[in-house]
Amino acid sequence: MQKNAPIGIFDSGIGGLTVAHAIKEELPNEHLIYFGDTAHLPYGDKSTATIQAYAIKIADFFLQQNCKIIVIACNSASAAANDLLKEYVASRATIVNVIEPMVDFVVKNESDKTVGVIGTKQTVNSNIYSRSIKNTNSSINVKSLATPLLVPMIEEGFLHNKIAHNIIEKYLRDASLKNIDSLVLGCTHYPLIKNELSQFYDNQVNILDSSIITAEFLKEFLASSDLSTTSTQKGNNQFFVSDLTESFEHSAKLFFGEPVVLQKHQLWE
Ligand code: DGL
Repeated sequence: MQKNAPIGIFDSGIGGLTVAHAIKEELPNEHLIYFGDTAHLPYGDKSTATIQAYAIKIADFFLQQNCKIIVIACNSASAAANDLLKEYVASRATIVNVIEPMVDFVVKNESDKTVGVIGTKQTVNSNIYSRSIKNTNSSINVKSLATPLLVPMIEEGFLHNKIAHNIIEKYLRDASLKNIDSLVLGCTHYPLIKNELSQFYDNQVNILDSSIITAEFLKEFLASSDLSTTSTQKGNNQFFVSDLTESFEHSAKLFFGEPVVLQKHQLWE
């Protein structure tokens, strides 16, 4: 595998740009290729088989670009397609997802605590966080809740207003998230409402952001596998989407935290 090959990053849409931005901050000299499958957004309500079919097609696109790593920057796709993608890609690239680094972090740092997980229906119904955390550290109590309204709410730019506040409050007051010590953001859209979530708990609950944890994991992985770029120049970042509208362009800036030029790339006819 080539050290100076690009890193492919994909999501159902633009939410994964929170992960791409964290990776860019940790690894500024790496060349990043982002693919947002905006034509099929959202993945969170889709079946496992459908998400797997999309993920394979996107992996093929990254393999054509000779990516050394493919980051699944979407919890729903990580839950549904990680194992299949690993098998499919085999030695051609390394698959990194957003769930495993978070699980590693939680099992190391949250012993004897109660950890809440919020995410899409696909992610929460897969039970992947709870299963993986408890398999390694049975002292941790995991409580999960599907919070499907948060993605459309964030996509529509409802972040700091009363409606957003009420939706967040309704979910976080749910009995299934009672008495948690920390909260896993099990969806790559949620870092945008991190402050609002933290404020609900008067900053007494530790909010665990998978974009940062995944970027840190990736940096360590590249170094330990001798796969870090040798370039000393800033990396070249490209952003592709399967469907392009003005609203995606506007939201992309919000999620990435700086202006982004999206290019339409049709993987599907
Ligand atoms: N970004 C996706 C995730 O992390 C949520 C959006 C979707 O449902 O496609 O699960």
